[in-house]
Amino acid sequence: MRTIVKLKEGIHWVGAVDWNVRDFHGYSTPKGTTYNAYLVLDEKITLFDTVKGSLQSDLIHNIYKVIDPSKIDYLVVNHVEPDHSGSIRDLVERARPEKIFCSARGKKALLQHFHHEDWPYEVVETGQEVSLGKRTLQFIETRMVHWPDSMFSYLKEDGVLISSDGFGQHWATSERFNDDVDHAELMFHAKKYFANILLPYAPLISKLIAQVAESGLKVDMIAPDHGVIWRNSPLQIVAAYDEWAKQEPKQKALIIYDTMWRSTEIMAKAISDGLAENQVTFKIMDLSATHRSDVITEILDARAVIVGSSTLNNNMLPRVADMLCYMKGLRPQNKIGAAFGSYGWSGEAVKLITKELEEMKFDVAHPGVRLPYVPTHEGLRECVELGRQMAKRIKGAP
Ligand code: FEO
Repeated sequence: MRTIVKLKEGIHWVGAVDWNVRDFHGYSTPKGTTYNAYLVLDEKITLFDTVKGSLQSDLIHNIYKVIDPSKIDYLVVNHVEPDHSGSIRDLVERARPEKIFCSARGKKALLQHFHHEDWPYEVVETGQEVSLGKRTLQFIETRMVHWPDSMFSYLKEDGVLISSDGFGQHWATSERFNDDVDHAELMFHAKKYFANILLPYAPLISKLIAQVAESGLKVDMIAPDHGVIWRNSPLQIVAAYDEWAKQEPKQKALIIYDTMWRSTEIMAKAISDGLAENQVTFKIMDLSATHRSDVITEILDARAVIVGSSTLNNNMLPRVADMLCYMKGLRPQNKIGAAFGSYGWSGEAVKLITKELEEMKFDVAHPGVRLPYVPTHEGLRECVELGRQMAKRIKGAP
């Protein structure tokens, strides 16, 4: 395994691999992640981003493999979220950089994180260029990909796009390039990342992709701040983003639920019978067994989201409320929805779920199915019928 990773001559990966992180502000990361930082050797030695604070010794160690960190002239801060800025204070103390390049919102966020008016900020905007010596560095502001401060950095002569959170994956690996890892697994992690981090900004992403395509930027490599670097056919991930950002659903349904005594689970299976009869692909996801971030990955290309909960204390079950709250923030588009659930005496869950789905602008044409205590076969027929109706709508019926 290479211990010094070169993207191209003079461009080094000096980031950190976080093998053990399992939760990323609510997103499950069962295979960890990486925080990538890049060091460019030129007349002006330039570091792009840092790493999470707890791994700052890995960053410094990796920089030392190439040069003494005190030789760094420029620091580029593409994004201020602490997974990339957590080692900045230490880095600035060691390197005393001549300039810290960031967007206007980046400067504001750096001040609000580190409270250092005395750092040598240099605010840049889209299209602005800086010479590093042999190389030209160009900046592209990418507001909300993933914070207002975010920007990409483009090394013009090398065709290397350092893309911050864009095109990343939460996946810890010993390999650093896309052609060194399993492609199907890579695309799974990239899709999960898009669905859970970037989905609310999908319209901005479509615009950004169109803008970059129009500019005719030559992209030979895409180097994100998480996961592996897109070295082989880098534009494949841009094409995937373009498709995901459109949110054009497939003929696919998700039935997601939580259950107290399995009655709601039995109802979920009956609904799936109505989908299966009509050859609609579906997945049944029990929220006690499936993490919210894996549900969102599946929702990205689903047409129907059918949500079930038993009623508990006049409300839906907490895991269902958690799922709906998370989903609402990510603003999925082009969905139809319905609710179902078992109840004992009051049975508010179905109504409350329906209201939440409507607030998310889901097209909810069915009042939902609620059944008392343990479903009868007759009751389950209502569930099958709900599945049939959803299947018809998935296939294009109004
Ligand atoms: Fe990887 Fe928005 O931070």
